[in-house]
Amino acid sequence: MLQSQSRRLEALRSRLIEAHQGHLLAYWDDLDDRQRELLLEDIGQVNFAGLPGLLRSHVLDEQPFSLPRDIQPAVCYPARPGLDQVGFYADAVKQGVSLIHHNKVAALTVAGGQGTRLGFDGPKGAFRISPVKNKPLFQLFAEFILGTNRRYGADLRWYIMTSPHNHADTTAFFEAHRFFGLKPERVRFFQQGVMPAFSKDGKILLDQKHRLAFSPDGHGGCLLALRRSGVLAEMAEAGIEHLSYFQVDNPLVKPIDPLFIGLHDMTGSEMSSKTIPKADDLERVGNFAVGDGKTMVIEYSDLPDELAHARDAQGNRLFDAGSIAIHLLSRRFVEQLTADEVHFGLPWHRAVKKVPHVNEAGRRIEPDKPNAVKLESFIFDAIPLARNPLILQTIREEEFSPVKNATGVDSAETSRRDLNRRAARWLESAGFAVPWREAEPDGLFEISPVLALDADHLREQMAMPPQIRPGNAHYWE
Ligand code: UTP
Repeated sequence: MLQSQSRRLEALRSRLIEAHQGHLLAYWDDLDDRQRELLLEDIGQVNFAGLPGLLRSHVLDEQPFSLPRDIQPAVCYPARPGLDQVGFYADAVKQGVSLIHHNKVAALTVAGGQGTRLGFDGPKGAFRISPVKNKPLFQLFAEFILGTNRRYGADLRWYIMTSPHNHADTTAFFEAHRFFGLKPERVRFFQQGVMPAFSKDGKILLDQKHRLAFSPDGHGGCLLALRRSGVLAEMAEAGIEHLSYFQVDNPLVKPIDPLFIGLHDMTGSEMSSKTIPKADDLERVGNFAVGDGKTMVIEYSDLPDELAHARDAQGNRLFDAGSIAIHLLSRRFVEQLTADEVHFGLPWHRAVKKVPHVNEAGRRIEPDKPNAVKLESFIFDAIPLARNPLILQTIREEEFSPVKNATGVDSAETSRRDLNRRAARWLESAGFAVPWREAEPDGLFEISPVLALDADHLREQMAMPPQIRPGNAHYWE
């Protein structure tokens, strides 16, 4: 090794030792040139200046969540307007449609997660879910955008956030499926940042002798990733005003919703959210609340039991507004938040997870119990920073049934069942005699979003109800 290289290595070694991370170079002598390069690249991604503070505040100990003193349930716009709101909602739909027609709105999907609970080998968006055609999640969203373009005379853009571990597979999946009929130039992928995983005593873990154990930095990472990738500037150039944010795991989502967009725009909200009434007091969803004058989401694990079970004077659940991770963000809001990209950051949330790593003896371990601290930021932590944040209630059966787990609650099985039930309900409302057996539709039903985006749309599209035979599979496109 040249002398200057060896001096640089020694300088790095001392810096790492000072930061209590000297072990990162423990296997240097075993590595070839390419591996050394990769290791240096990985180390270069770590913010060592901020590390001591981060370790103290988030890694070595869990910061207890401090509940705002003055905590109230958040006020939400109802799913169906009251008599005094009918005109306002109708105007909002018109405004939403106009923004869509003029391509002032873009879809934004966060798809960088690791999907560990589902345990699917591939990007989660490639997971096949629809009841008849077994379409993957990405295809359902693509077809929704195609259907929206067709219905409102638009040519919308779709931004998809990936992470280093699934970027290549995700783009290859779209290419292999010819972008599901969308124009490739209207679909833009960008990658999110990563964070190292730490041992519980604050050491960055090595995934291999020459690679740090990095994981994606949370869906909240999309804000900085939008700026750093240049996507935010492209959006400004294209005249996009609002970003319609949704997660890759909810096949029932309406990726573009005129009412929601119109309300967000007309009320001057910088960040809006959809909510559903909680299924029970302790449902594992975030809770919309207002604390110290700010709208926020309080995670289910942070909401004290007495508040989770609290009732109002009419006996209704007080904290009933569950968060379903569907938002609208104004492009200008994201620009302002991230203008100082060095100092901007949403708070970190700590989770103790199983992370494979190289141990002190140089052997790679697959732990059988949680061994490492992972840090992620969450998009909903931007809500308290927004002006006029709006919350719109919606209907669970119509818009929310995520694929999180391999089995049980929020699994492929429940999500597919809910897609099937929704299609059956839409068909019934369009005048079809749908057979039911016990509480389930008798058969499999699927309606391509290219044909209809909701029940009313389906009614307009299908004048002549065909025969439905019990127990069969039925598909409309
Ligand atoms: P989840 O919090 O459900 O995480 O993500 P996950 O990674 O998909 O699954 P688990 O927890 O490992 O089982 C909710 C949404 O946020 C995206 C996911 O892709 C999903 O759409 N996400 C999550 C990101 O885009 N980046 C992240 O760093 C984390």
